[in-house]
Amino acid sequence: MNVLTLKSELQKILSDCKKNTKTIGFVPTMGALHKGHLSLVKRALTQNDCVVVSIFVNPTQFNNATDLEKYPRTLKNDVALLATLSNKIIVFAPEAKAFYDGMVKSKKYRFGGLENEMEGKHRKGHFNGVATVVSMLLKTVGPTVAYFGEKDFQQLQIIKKLVEIENIPVQIVGCPIVREPNGLAMSSRNKRLTEKQREEATFIYQTLTEVKEKFNDLSIPKLTKLVVSRFKNHSFLQLEYFEIANEKTLKTAKRKQKNTPYRAFIAVHAGAVRLIDNMALN
Ligand code: PAF
Repeated sequence: MNVLTLKSELQKILSDCKKNTKTIGFVPTMGALHKGHLSLVKRALTQNDCVVVSIFVNPTQFNNATDLEKYPRTLKNDVALLATLSNKIIVFAPEAKAFYDGMVKSKKYRFGGLENEMEGKHRKGHFNGVATVVSMLLKTVGPTVAYFGEKDFQQLQIIKKLVEIENIPVQIVGCPIVREPNGLAMSSRNKRLTEKQREEATFIYQTLTEVKEKFNDLSIPKLTKLVVSRFKNHSFLQLEYFEIANEKTLKTAKRKQKNTPYRAFIAVHAGAVRLIDNMALN
């Protein structure tokens, strides 16, 4: 399997691929691959002739130095996992300085307000970092289709807006959240949870499921109150935010309106590990 670190090497291989007018599927990741990532790669493999997976822990999207330092880095294992799917996958795993041409810095973006909600409020500068690296990766790879998980639903909406703003000719495909048998959304950060925290974190999924079940019967303020009170006395999990928002605008909803898709979004701390999740409500 090809594991490349330089843009020039990648572009050389891809130019052969493009000469034969093949479609290129792209799955950007930060590594520590799990079944959620693999579901994106499998989809890319079934829909494209050529598949690129990037593995790059992007420093500019971390607003917390410890989080960046502790982010799991498991390249060897990731490559081995990808090889179980296909040894034709092209892995792009650049070094930060080289990839950023020496200036590891993010650009400033505006996404019509999407960037100011939820994760945008709680992780200052995060989406500038994500958009900067995703824009660079898309321009380097030049894929036909790029695949992103719905676990980072706000990120997915922002990336759709990014390609529109920057006129990047690529189709962005969102793929469903993959969960552990106990409901916990798969995330590279789960690797940092203890066995007990992993068990307790199922509470996040149970809460979202309860909100979905009660969505038709209770008002949005009542549902929000219910979630806040459920977490108040939890000994393992601290709620950072819970919001029910319009799925398109990501603006917090105060009351339900007809023909509007709503989604519940949550961020929770399990010790030092920050977990996010979301669920469509209607
Ligand atoms: O979702 C992620 O893993 C990252 O935010 C992404 C899209 C690979 C950009 O670094």
